[in-house]
This record gives sequence, structure tokens and C-alpha cells, in this order.
Amino acid sequence: MLKQILIFVTTYLLVSSEDQFRTSSSVLHAKTQPKNVAFEDFGNYSGQSSTGMNYKKTYFISRYFKSFWPESKSICNSFNMELATFETLDEAQNFVTILEKNEYFKANGRFVLVDGVTDLQGSPAEWYWTNSGEKIPYSIPWAAAQPDNFYNNEPVLSVGRISMDDKVGFNDIPANYAARFACQKTELIKN
Ligand SMILES: *[C@@H]1O[C@H](CO)[C@@H](O)[C@H](O)[C@H]1NC(C)=O
Repeated sequence: MLKQILIFVTTYLLVSSEDQFRTSSSVLHAKTQPKNVAFEDFGNYSGQSSTGMNYKKTYFISRYFKSFWPESKSICNSFNMELATFETLDEAQNFVTILEKNEYFKANGRFVLVDGVTDLQGSPAEWYWTNSGEKIPYSIPWAAAQPDNFYNNEPVLSVGRISMDDKVGFNDIPANYAARFACQKTELIKN
């Protein structure tokens, strides 16, 4: 009986602390955009790709659920989005800033999964975007002491904090680590 009461109280505390961060604006978002209730718009970016294409992106985070990297990629695709990629260093740094400033992520977030993978063969390892198959064309803004390929088992890319007080940075992570993830919608802008 005591055990059941403890489980009840703990569940209540977990659920209510999560509720605190559901601001009125996200409730409004849920009411007015029922299709996107699983994801939250975390920010936008406008830039130019290395091939000179102007584009605008919106990033959507799976605020209310976590998943492994392979499933995350499929889930983004099934919502007509892609697991997030960053075409340039500027876009990668902009995404770091978006996570740095986000109060919900500050309180609850460790990592969000993004599209990059490594084959773990090289030293140093090379990183690729699976969407394009291209090598990531700039020096990734890693978190301190990353990538470390911990236990020789960190082939996918994430962005977040190693511990709660750290700055946000990129980090290699196991493919079977359940985390929130970032999908993107890209719009090409005609010059
Ligand atoms: C991103 O841009 C859209 C309009 O294009 C806007 O509705 C939305 O609020 C922006 N998101 C953020 C987090 O600023």
C-alpha cells in the first residue's frame, strides 16, 4: 500500500512538473493546430547553402515524446519532414543558440537527435548527413570533450547539454538512446 502511494505521488509530481512548462501559448498552439500537436515549432532559420540556394527552415521538436535515432528519422519522414540537418556552420550555431535560449529545453532537455551519422571507421571519424549522403562540410561545433565515441558505440549526432549546467553543443550518442528529436521543414526561396 505504501509503495502504491509513493508511486502515485511520484507520478503526480512528474506529471505536474511537466505541466508547468506547458505555457498558454503551447496550449493555444495545440488548439489551433491540432495536426502538429506532437511537435513544437522551436525556431526558424534563413540562409544560403554552399551551392548558392537560398532557403528557409523551421525546426520542430518532439516535445512530448522520445525515440531512438532510426525511428526518429522515420517519424519525421512520416510527418512529411526530415530529421534536422545544418547546411552551414552558421545554421549549426544558430540551432545551438535556439536550444540555449529555450526555457523548456533548459528545464527538461538533455539532447535532441539530428540527422548526422558516422561510420566509426576513420580516426578522426567522418560525419555525414544521411538525407544527402554528403560529408558534413564544416567543423562541427562539438560540446566540450566530444565526440568521444563512448564505449565505441556512438554513431549518431545530437545537440544538447552533457550535464544541466553545460553549454549546448553537438555530441555523439548511441543509436539506441531514446531522446527528443528535431525534424525540419525546408522551403527553397527563388531569387
Ligand atoms: C517561424 O516562422 C513562422 C512563420 O514563417 C512563425 O509563425 C513562427 O512563429 C516562427 N517560429 C519561431 C519559434 O519563431
